[in-house]
Amino acid sequence: MLTRARRLGVLTLAAGMLLAACSTPQGSGGTSPSAGGAGGGSGTVALLLPEKQTARYEAADNPLFSAKFKQLCPGATLDYANAGGSDATQLQQAEAEIAKGAKVLVLDPNDANAAGKIVTEAQAKGVKVVSYDRLVKGNSKPDYYVEFDSSAVGKLQGDVLLAKLTADGKTNPKLVWINGSPKDNNASLFKAGAHSALDGKVQIVKEDAMANWKPEEAQAIMEAAIASVGKTGFDGVYVANDGGAGGAIAAMKANGVDPKTKPTTGQDAELAAIQRIVTGEQFMTVYKPIKTLAEESAAVACDLLNGKTPDAAKFNSKENNGTADIPTQKIGVIGVTLDGKTAGTKSILDSVVADGFYTATQICTADFAGACTAAGVK
Ligand code: GAL
Repeated sequence: MLTRARRLGVLTLAAGMLLAACSTPQGSGGTSPSAGGAGGGSGTVALLLPEKQTARYEAADNPLFSAKFKQLCPGATLDYANAGGSDATQLQQAEAEIAKGAKVLVLDPNDANAAGKIVTEAQAKGVKVVSYDRLVKGNSKPDYYVEFDSSAVGKLQGDVLLAKLTADGKTNPKLVWINGSPKDNNASLFKAGAHSALDGKVQIVKEDAMANWKPEEAQAIMEAAIASVGKTGFDGVYVANDGGAGGAIAAMKANGVDPKTKPTTGQDAELAAIQRIVTGEQFMTVYKPIKTLAEESAAVACDLLNGKTPDAAKFNSKENNGTADIPTQKIGVIGVTLDGKTAGTKSILDSVVADGFYTATQICTADFAGACTAAGVK
């Protein structure tokens, strides 16, 4: 992870300073956040992220949030903790921050329901909670929610996969289908969005879920699918994210299946996935402009710390978490394929490179130089 994060390059801050020891992708892809509480008061905000298996949290969400928060709220303290995929760890990290006197928690729940307890404990002490990227449920009412449109992510994955299989001449194609973790509310939205695009148009030969969003879980599901339907028993693979796509593609290769012949979906625009798209091993990913999510959330956190109400015009949507409607800011997503010719997608150059998330140099390392040249990625 660290190696991957390092490869992601150096960030130049808008403020003109270099963020020491920080390597991160940078991308705009949206409106710039409100001025927040620039020059405002002191106090502590804690950013609590869920896991480290998926590259984005350490490589992008944390450094991008941190850079913007320090710029907007220079007098404040920012603490960061990653739960490493453990609900118990996330609870401990949150309780430690509440005990320490943090005034705002920006919480990306490892488990949507388990994290409800964190919101309840925080609010009992007057601490505000911003649900970040994933909706916190569990009989709680987070103050705000900043998210990507997860239903749109799933529908885009499904539409793009179907368009590719149709273009390849497959009618009623057979799919292996690998969902995200049932503990994550987003995973149900990706799943429902993809089913809305594909149901009635494909045959699902196997559908299962990664229990904890781990690539090796997707790999095991793909192994089992190949064992049960055979190498020719499927035409494509729906996988909810890039980590899982990497696992599924590894299983195909280990079983003598050429992944280039089985279009596979993903999400997160991880560097490894973009490189697989360059070689043709993965068909698509979904680029979520994390810089926008992180910066908008940093502005909300800074406002809340300073006792200001976040910009109502941005919180013009709501999500119901089973307990209440939570004021929500929704950020759009972009489909990515190699050439951007499939409807709903942009090319690698027109998406992640144009947005500054990666440079072509970061993508086209020695192992991918030939494929990059062939594909015109430079
Ligand atoms: C989801 C998130 C995705 C991906 C996944 C794995 O909640 O929306 O971007 O990171 O978790 O952690």
